[in-house]
Parts: sequence; structure tokens; C-alpha cells
Amino acid sequence: MTLAQEIMELARWAPSGDNTQVWRFEFLAANRVRVHGRDTAEELVVFDWGGIPSLLSMGCLIETAVQAATLQGCRVDVNWLPDPGPHRYLFDLAFRHDTGIAPSPLAVGITTRSVQRASLSRRALRADEKQALVAAAGEFQLIWLEGKQRAATARLNYNFAQPRLTMPESFHALSSAIDPDPHARYSHDRMPAGCFPLDPLSRRLMLWALQSWPRLHSLNTLFGTALTRLQLDLLPGLRCAAHMALIAPRLPCTRADHVASGRAFQRVWLTAEQLGLRLQPEYTPVEFCRHVHHGLTITKIASIQNRIERLAADYAKLLAPIPEQRCLMLLRLGEGPAAPARSLRLSLADLTVLSSSSSLKGNS
Ligand SMILES: Cc1cc2nc3c(=O)[nH]c(=O)nc-3n(C[C@H](O)[C@H](O)[C@H](O)COP(=O)(O)O)c2cc1C
Repeated sequence: MTLAQEIMELARWAPSGDNTQVWRFEFLAANRVRVHGRDTAEELVVFDWGGIPSLLSMGCLIETAVQAATLQGCRVDVNWLPDPGPHRYLFDLAFRHDTGIAPSPLAVGITTRSVQRASLSRRALRADEKQALVAAAGEFQLIWLEGKQRAATARLNYNFAQPRLTMPESFHALSSAIDPDPHARYSHDRMPAGCFPLDPLSRRLMLWALQSWPRLHSLNTLFGTALTRLQLDLLPGLRCAAHMALIAPRLPCTRADHVASGRAFQRVWLTAEQLGLRLQPEYTPVEFCRHVHHGLTITKIASIQNRIERLAADYAKLLAPIPEQRCLMLLRLGEGPAAPARSLRLSLADLTVLSSSSSLKGNS
């Protein structure tokens, strides 16, 4: 393997929304890779508005490459190139040996870091743990949501999950993200059903319902969503050390802002991993509230749209006096075992494209 391949072999473990792995790699030289990125705004619509979550993921990839490169004593130069088309991105990563670069202690967590969606310890975070996470965030700020605010955040996520599960606009995002095998503990390109903390019957029902929108709609109408949300959102939200909001230093607007946000997010996540803390992103409130802030319609169902708008006000209250638009990610965290089921990644060979022209097919 070349130097660039060694580094990208590790960097491919970067997290991405729903494990979409919105990148393909074109190895240009032993020390240089061209990343062909894409966003999923056209497919996932409200769940990747403006391609922002995909750009966060690309920031995670860059940060992971930077951390992985330290193991080779290398620094990384990032060079963005003109977009090859709508929803497409191109950037080069060049790796240069530098005697000033020591192996980063965060790099060991690159492959073990994984979402833990189940209950975690309620032990409060120690001051040294908070300090390490704050240092990792750099110019980004962390807000701790503990005690009563932990319960308020759990309730907020529980409430936001109702529109997420019941609006027709969610169906494609939900059904394409989850591996339909009820026994799957691993998935190379999606999320295995086993990574969701659901009782076996609810898991089977969820997978059955995700086969078609009429099924999901009938299930929601017959049984409601309370039991699913209780297991996925409320209980884990109450059973954790804290929730945490990652706050940008200014309103994130540009591509560079979103990529920098992704880099900070991944630094914090790898630091949590180093501390033995598990973490789960809680992105739905962030995403939905961005739409509300911009006056956009999330769903054609007026009653659900109204509900989301009311919930957006609760979210703003939770983060006040910080303007909620500066929150780039909401997370829950705490001590706990690694998740028994997790997303894996496509192999480096599968992620590799030979030239710019073949990348468009490979990355669809
Ligand atoms: C921008 C972004 C948003 C995410 N939002 C959520 C979320 O709302 N809930 C969740 O459980 N995981 C979320 N994730 C985690 C991804 O689903 C996860 O990283 C991916 O499936 C790969 O799994 P792994 O991190 O366990 O390796 C998010 C990740 C990213 C990068």
C-alpha cells in the first residue's frame, strides 16, 4: 500500500450521516488522494438540506485523515477544487512528512469509535473529562445539558421523533438507511437493525413497516409511535451522563464553516472515545429547526409542520441565550460498553475510483 492508501484505509472509518460514506477516493500519487464527495440533498431532501450534514461528514473525514496521518509522521494539506457538478465536491489531501508531527493519541480510537444508541451510565461527567472535551472542540463551545436539562433534552428528542417517524417525507431516508435483516449486527453501507435499542418484536415490526410507506403509515395509525420513541429516544435520553450541544463560534454559513464544524465534531468524538465515553449524535432537532428558522416547509402534512414549529421554540428555549442556529450538533454521552452492533464501512477497494469520470458512477 502507498502512504496515501495506508492513511485512507484508516480515514474511511470516519462517521457519516446514516453511514452514507459520501466519498470516493482517487489515488493520484503515493502521497496524494483526490476525494470525490457528494451530498444526498436530492435523495434525502429535508434530511440533507443544503448538503450541510454531508459537509459535516466530509469534515469528519478530513479530521480522521489528519489524525491517521500523524501515525505516519505526516501533516495534511487540504486543497478544495471547483465543484464538478451540483451536489458534487472535490478536494485533494496531500500528505507530507514532518518531523514535528507526533502520533496523535486520538488516532487509536478511529476504528473503535462507534455510535452507542442504548442506555449509558448516569455518572456525572468529571471536570477533567469536560476539560478534555472542551479542549478538543477548540474554538467551538460545548454546552452541558445535565440534571433537569438532561430530562428536557430527552423529552425534546422524544417529541421530535414523532414527526420524524410519521411524516411521509421521512420514509425514503428511514427505509434506505436501515439494513432489512433483523439479525444483522453489522452493515458495510447502512445501519444494522441491531444497533437500535428496541425489543425484538418492535424491531421486527419496524423492519416490516420500512418495506413500504403504506405499511409504516398503517402501523403508526394502529399502534402509534410512543413505544418506539420510548425505547429509542426517551429512555436512552434519560439514561446518560449528559447531553451536549456543540456550538459554532459564529453562525455557520459557508462550506468552510460546515467542514470546520465536522472536524471539531470528530475531534470531540475521538476524545470521548479516548476517555472511555460513548456518544450518540441527536441530529433531528438541529436539522428540523434549521428548516423552521429559514421558513421552509418540512412536510406537506400541516398538523405535523405546526407541531415541528412548536417544538422548534422548545429547542430554542433549551439553548437560550445562545441562538439555536449556532448549534451544529446535539449529542448524548456517558460511560458504557461498546455497542454490540455497529455500522462497518465499504472496503478501501470499493471506495476507490480510477478516474474522475468513473467516480460519478461509483459514488451513487
Ligand atoms: C452529520 C451526522 C449526523 C448524524 N446523526 C445521527 C443521529 O441523529 N442519530 C444517530 O443515532 N446517529 C447519527 N449519526 C451517526 C451515524 O449514523 C454513524 O456515524 C454512522 O452510521 C456510522 O456508524 P458508526 O459511527 O457507529 O461507525 C450522525 C452522523 C453524522 C456524521
